[in-house]
Amino acid sequence: MSDGAAPKGSTVVIRPMQAEDLSQVLAIDQASFALPWPESAYRYELFDNPGSLLWVAEVTTPDGERQVIGMVVVWLILDEAHIATIAVHPQYRGQGVATKLLSAALIASIQREMRSATLEVRLHNLAAQRLYRRFGFEVAGSRPRYYRDNNEDALIMTVSPLNQAYREWLEREGWKNQDEQPF
Ligand SMILES: CC(C)(COP(=O)(O)OP(=O)(O)OC[C@H]1O[C@@H](n2cnc3c(N)ncnc32)[C@H](O)[C@@H]1OP(=O)(O)O)[C@@H](O)C(=O)NCCC(=O)NCCS
Repeated sequence: MSDGAAPKGSTVVIRPMQAEDLSQVLAIDQASFALPWPESAYRYELFDNPGSLLWVAEVTTPDGERQVIGMVVVWLILDEAHIATIAVHPQYRGQGVATKLLSAALIASIQREMRSATLEVRLHNLAAQRLYRRFGFEVAGSRPRYYRDNNEDALIMTVSPLNQAYREWLEREGWKNQDEQPF
C-alpha cells in the first residue's frame, strides 16, 4: 500500500500515537523535513512528556491492511497549544489528511482548556501556510534565519480564541474526532 494511493473502500482514522507506530512515523518525518526529528525526540514526547499530545492518521484497506500516513505533535504550554510538528506521507497529500490531524489536535487542545494555538512555519512553505489559514491561523511575527539547514525565516502563526465556538466550527466543517471515514 505504501507505493500509491489507498485502494477504493479504504478508511482513515485519527488516533493517539503508540510505540508500534514509531518506525512508520520516523519514515514520514524523514521524507517530509530537511531537519527530521531523531527517534529519541519522538520517544521523549511519547513516553516522558506529559504535556505532549501525539496523533497519527492510519489508513485501513478493505482487506484489513493498516498504514500510518501522517502525524501531529502538540505541546501544551500553559494555555497555549504549540503545533510542534505535522506531516503527511508524500503519497497521501492533498486528500485532507493534515486537515483531519489538525482538527483532532485542536479539538483535543480545547478539551484540555488551551486558549490559543501557535506554530512556526517556513516562509516558503505555502502549502502548510494555506492549511493553517483555513483554520484561522494568522501571522503574528517572524523569526529571521530560524532554520539551520538554509537559514530560512520562520513565520509565527497563531489562532485564538480556542473555545467552544471554535470547536463547533471545526465540527461543522465535517470532521468528527475518532470516527472512521472513507478515504
Ligand atoms: C503541509 C502538509 C502537512 C499538508 O498535508 P495534506 O494532507 O496534503 O493537507 P490537506 O490535504 O489536508 O490540505 C492540503 C490541500 O489539499 C486539499 N484537499 C483536501 N482534501 C482534498 C481532496 N479530497 N482532494 C484533493 N485535494 C484536497 C486542501 O484543500 C488543501 O488545499 P489548499 O491548501 O490549496 O486549500 C503536507 O504537505 C506535508 O506533510 N508537508 C511536509 C511537512 C510540512 O511542511 N509540515 C508543516 C510544517 S510547518
